[in-house]
Amino acid sequence: MQLKKQKSPYTALFPVPAVLVTAASGDGKDNIVTLAWVGTVNSEPPMLSISVRQSRHTHRLLEETGEFVVNLPGTDIVREVDMCGMVSGKDEDKFSLCGFKRQPASRVRAPLIDRCPVNIECVVRNRLSLGSHDMYIGEILAVHVDEAILEGGRIDLNKMKPLAYAPGEYWSLGEKLSTMGFSVKK
Ligand SMILES: Cc1cc2nc3c(=O)[nH]c(=O)nc-3n(C[C@H](O)[C@H](O)[C@H](O)COP(=O)(O)O)c2cc1C
Repeated sequence: MQLKKQKSPYTALFPVPAVLVTAASGDGKDNIVTLAWVGTVNSEPPMLSISVRQSRHTHRLLEETGEFVVNLPGTDIVREVDMCGMVSGKDEDKFSLCGFKRQPASRVRAPLIDRCPVNIECVVRNRLSLGSHDMYIGEILAVHVDEAILEGGRIDLNKMKPLAYAPGEYWSLGEKLSTMGFSVKK
């Protein structure tokens, strides 16, 4: 039998996506934050979760407006993704810091980030205080996809080049292995 080292409990689920979440304040000032504690949590209605520490400037904006956009970055903007996770919107306008342009969302006040090929508009349906983080459950109201990453109406990950996060590191995806259901296909 192979020996396995048992480790103390920690956030060991990897890889996860690294995303840029935008939120707006009541007075119209918006912000960008890098988040990795995110996930899909329901299909009908489509829902996702984001977990945010109370100390983040973004936490205040989420409390004010109850809306946000999850912007999926490609590997080409890994530097900007890191930067949005290093500085606070309390001190800096991260749009100008990163050279991003705002695009209007259709259902929420938070803007879309032009350089992100997928933008997911959400409204907060629930908040769970878990300890270090508050988890916001968002219902997905609209999704925008850059035509440049579409192939036959589907997102082509070779074109999108999504960004993944694993303990303290940024990764790109490897190659496609197969399609869902292939193991039982006759
Ligand atoms: C790769 C990466 C992932 C991060 N994931 C989270 C997260 O899931 N939740 C969180 O609260 N902060 C996370 N952070 C930290 C925030 O992005 C960081 O504290 C940011 O400066 C907060 O910005 P704000 O004060 O403008 O909201 C992450 C940072 C990086 C670089």
